[in-house]
Amino acid sequence: MIGFIIEFLKGQTVGQLRRRGAIIGENVHLMSSSIDKYTAFLIEIGNNVTITNAIVLAHDASTKPFIGYTKIQKTTIGNNVFIGMGAIVQAGSHIGNNVIVGAGANVNGIIPDNSVVLGNPAKIVCSIDEYVNKNKERMEKSLVVEKMCSDMKKKELINLREKLGDSLGYEV
Ligand SMILES: CC(C)(COP(=O)(O)OP(=O)(O)OC[C@H]1O[C@@H](n2cnc3c(N)ncnc32)[C@H](O)[C@@H]1OP(=O)(O)O)[C@@H](O)C(=O)NCCC(=O)NCCS
Repeated sequence: MIGFIIEFLKGQTVGQLRRRGAIIGENVHLMSSSIDKYTAFLIEIGNNVTITNAIVLAHDASTKPFIGYTKIQKTTIGNNVFIGMGAIVQAGSHIGNNVIVGAGANVNGIIPDNSVVLGNPAKIVCSIDEYVNKNKERMEKSLVVEKMCSDMKKKELINLREKLGDSLGYEV
């Protein structure tokens, strides 16, 4: 059982998942995420998708010890989707296009296009347009940095920390 869990939790690459039958578009970033490799053939991911340290499932073995069978069901993720840290997308879920799934959310069901969802169970909190406008307004009052922190030297990083103080900032 422990071996199974360790094996399951290992991050998979897009190539490995495609070889197991997953349908995955272009510009898909799976950052330390666990995409259900056992039932990868039931997972469909569109273009421009980032999944950060989250779990995407297409099976549910809760029935196995009791009736001898595991539930399996297609899970789909549309285009232009960001899935936050620690989120779980359960088997049978369908996430539409232009969606943000908040950190730690538990998605079980249908998430419509153009929505931001969070919580357990995941619920819509606003539309993508509202979220974009809110952040554009915040940017006007915030420090905006045109260089990625990962490309900065330590001195620049310390300087940025001092400039930011406790305020919100935006990094390109
Ligand atoms: C969901 C998310 C997109 C919302 O962003 P936002 O609207 O700017 O969030 P705010 O900070 O303005 O918070 C709005 C409200 O939602 C709550 N909230 C924010 N993120 C939440 C989350 N992930 N789960 C539950 N509640 C959350 C806040 O507590 C706040 O509640 P309040 O109105 O009762 O005070 C964002 O918080 C998030 O989860 N982003 C993903 C972060 C991530 O995974 N980063 C990984 C590295 S890239």
